[in-house]
Amino acid sequence: MSYELFKFLHVVGVASSVTALTIVLVMDKPVHHIRGLSLIASSLILISGSLMVYYGNYYDTPVPNWILIKLIIWFLLFLSGAVFSKKLKRHRIPSLVLLLVAGLLSAAMGIFKPF
Ligand code: HEM
Repeated sequence: MSYELFKFLHVVGVASSVTALTIVLVMDKPVHHIRGLSLIASSLILISGSLMVYYGNYYDTPVPNWILIKLIIWFLLFLSGAVFSKKLKRHRIPSLVLLLVAGLLSAAMGIFKPF
């Protein structure tokens, strides 16, 4: 399997996860299985991201900070879908803004690798 395929699956995971989390946050009674879909999409992000770290030789010790930051953001997104979605619904607009900012920050880390 090629590096480009992992990158494509990574972006598929990001798009699906952000869409699913937005639906979870916006709808009062979200369509069936949407939370499950958001968890599958986050797993796809983590698996494809880790495969890119491995095949792209980004795993020197210490692991680059941009990867650590991506892992932390990923964990927060995962928790927001898996555990906190009901609580976050009470603050819809700030949660949606945070979701957008977190996604964009993580994308910027992957593209620019600033540190
Ligand atoms: C919040 C979750 C995440 C988002 C929104 C995200 C987003 C992105 C985006 C948009 C890209 C650029 C793809 C491209 O250049 O076309 C990227 C690249 C990448 N991401 Fe993520 N990512 C996330 C989590 C992760 C995690 C958890 C890892 C590692 C375990 C990871 C590792 C990578 C790597 C290695 C690249 C490729 C860099 C390159 O080859 O230029 N990402 N990510």
